[in-house]
Amino acid sequence: MTHNSSRPAPIHIVGAGGLGREVLDALFAAGRRPGNLVLVDDHVTATEIHEVPVLRPEDTDGGLFVVAVADPAVRRRLAQRMLDRGLAPTAVVHPRATLAHDVQIPAGCLVLANAFVSTRARLAAHTQVQYNATIGHDSVLHEFVTVLPGANVAGNVVLEDDVTIGSNACVLQGLVVGARTFVGAGAVVTKSHPADRVLVGVPAR
Ligand SMILES: CC(C)(COP(=O)(O)OP(=O)(O)OC[C@H]1O[C@@H](n2cnc3c(N)ncnc32)[C@H](O)[C@@H]1OP(=O)(O)O)[C@@H](O)C(=O)NCCC(=O)NCCS
Repeated sequence: MTHNSSRPAPIHIVGAGGLGREVLDALFAAGRRPGNLVLVDDHVTATEIHEVPVLRPEDTDGGLFVVAVADPAVRRRLAQRMLDRGLAPTAVVHPRATLAHDVQIPAGCLVLANAFVSTRARLAAHTQVQYNATIGHDSVLHEFVTVLPGANVAGNVVLEDDVTIGSNACVLQGLVVGARTFVGAGAVVTKSHPADRVLVGVPAR
């Protein structure tokens, strides 16, 4: 690592699209300054965004990272790429997100503005709770789950690995959503579902 050890390690936001800029905004709101941040993207042609440099993954040189990509499979792949380059995952929580006093946010997670995570909810590494989304008490989100803006996950729900809950969808209390299942925008999940489904509508099917 070449960064100056007297300063906090730079945070690399992997993905310089819309979600990447939202993560940048969360970090600015938390008091981070552009000099301590890096965007990482294979495709974006800009060399800087909001005064934050944009690097290719192969040009990164240590520090911390969070992946700002909603798709769980892509997020997994990019996280592994950063780990392989020796970067360490870190969590980003917008200062205006609300977390119950007993909630821990593990490395790689992203919690955006006005999200609410209730008591004894458990988030695994690299989960995302995007803005205005809510996670009910005692619910468990496994690795790389994505909860998109405004979605409502009730209490005692289990979302297995790589599940996505679309904008403004609801998952009713006590249900299990199987790994990699995608719940479409606005759907209401009224029963448990197995892995690898795409569910839409009310009730979701
Ligand atoms: C469910 C979803 C993944 C399906 O995507 P897709 O496979 O590309 O589906 P298509 O857009 O081809 O639509 C297929 C059919 O499903 C319907 N459909 C798509 N999404 C739907 C939804 N959320 N609720 C109800 N019906 C839906 C379409 O109208 C279409 O119906 P038709 O065959 O009668 O015309 C997607 O529409 C969705 O809801 N994604 C979540 C988006 C979101 O939350 N974005 C937030 C970004 S911040």
